Amino acid sequence: MKGIVIEGGERLVGEVQVSGAKNAALPALAAALLVEGTSIFSNCPRLRDVATFQALLENLGARLEWNGKGELQVDTYGIMGASAPYDLVKTMRASILILGPLLARMGEAVVSLPGGCAIGARPVNLHLKGLEQLGAQIELDHGYIKARAKRLKGTHLYLDIPTVTGTENLMMAAALAEGTTVIENAACEPEVEDLAHVLSAMGVEIEGAGTSEVTIRGVEHVRPVQHAVMPDRIEAATLMVAAGITRGNILIKGCRLEHMEAVVAKLREVGMEISSPAAGEVRVVGANRVRSTDVKTLPYPGFPTDMQAQVMALMTVANGLSAITETIFENRFMHVSELNRMGADIRVQGPTAIVTGVPQLSGAPVMATDLRASASLVVAGLAAQGRTVIARAYHLERGYEDLVGKLAALGATVQEVDLDDEDTGEQE
Ligand code: EPZ
Repeated sequence: MKGIVIEGGERLVGEVQVSGAKNAALPALAAALLVEGTSIFSNCPRLRDVATFQALLENLGARLEWNGKGELQVDTYGIMGASAPYDLVKTMRASILILGPLLARMGEAVVSLPGGCAIGARPVNLHLKGLEQLGAQIELDHGYIKARAKRLKGTHLYLDIPTVTGTENLMMAAALAEGTTVIENAACEPEVEDLAHVLSAMGVEIEGAGTSEVTIRGVEHVRPVQHAVMPDRIEAATLMVAAGITRGNILIKGCRLEHMEAVVAKLREVGMEISSPAAGEVRVVGANRVRSTDVKTLPYPGFPTDMQAQVMALMTVANGLSAITETIFENRFMHVSELNRMGADIRVQGPTAIVTGVPQLSGAPVMATDLRASASLVVAGLAAQGRTVIARAYHLERGYEDLVGKLAALGATVQEVDLDDEDTGEQE
């Protein structure tokens, strides 16, 4: 099984290019199902989750290939099936994103119910409730969602929780519905806005994406699209934290500072210098020893839950006590016990982790449990004294394109290794 070995203590220095965003690429690929034709996606990251999504679409009869320009072409002429089997869905819960577009285009969809995952139960009840309000008949049968609808009808939806993929699923379903759909309490994440750009380019009239009220005017047909996937704000923010914990000085290229305001505010608060010398570029200079602070994860534009584990790693060596509260998922502290094995002092009390900063972490053998926990362990390993060996590092490949290569190019002593460690692989 793949592992990562890090010899800690190197400062990160140099320039790094951010890849396209996983959480924008997946809904964009799902939206291609609405089209009968070939769509082209540039800046699409080569990730394990993108490969899984490719398998999902090919299982439906689509043809996907990376062209000579490094773009992912999605040809959906051949869509004949309307089902997503459990063995694919169980490895990636974002598979639920094909439900809305398949139902809208084919009038039916059979998608395995994603089970719980490492970070929480993560039900999809709000996706299903919204689709029923759009006129779909939904049946749960032997672990599968069976959805049917002659033609969806636009309506006024209110989301109890601003679910990101729920908002995205319903936007895609509404794209081919008859009439207008308004989604209240929609998720405001930049990835939702990026999906709206895809749908608009396909010919769908959308207003308000990126705010909590999105209006979609359905059309009969949509046209193929060429779209550049937005940069990954979580990868960029992870690199910022890596520069912070190693007292580094890096220039991150191809990112959008306006997508990372909550994280940048926190990193400045603890003493890091973050500036933007040019459009799409961010200079990050780590402090000698960062100050402690409190963090509470919230829906966008609040502090992103996908950065909670990475900032916790930084706070383990901060000067003082930090309270980190996770409000989005019920079990997103699995990195705590691994960080404590590296000498951190973290106590979990319900949804809050109390981090008492220590002068230095020490390298140790640790295990990755989920995507962002893996990133947290990498960040910690970069600053730890000695060697850190991270098992089950395949989690990292789900959401970071060659993070090891990028960190090594910035001066880290890090490499991928083969470890003999059995693991079936879990979804999240
Ligand atoms: C998206 O997951 C992201 N994944 C997650 O990123 C991210 O952590 C999350 O949004 C929150 O920002 C993708 O975009 C592919 P939610 P999603 O629906 O859409 C509850 C990563 O690391 N909920 O916004 O699944 C849910 O249990 C991944 O890249 C319901 O109760 O998250 C959670 O507590 C991890 N019923 C909260 O809402 C529903 O029907 C937010 O979940 C849907 C959600």
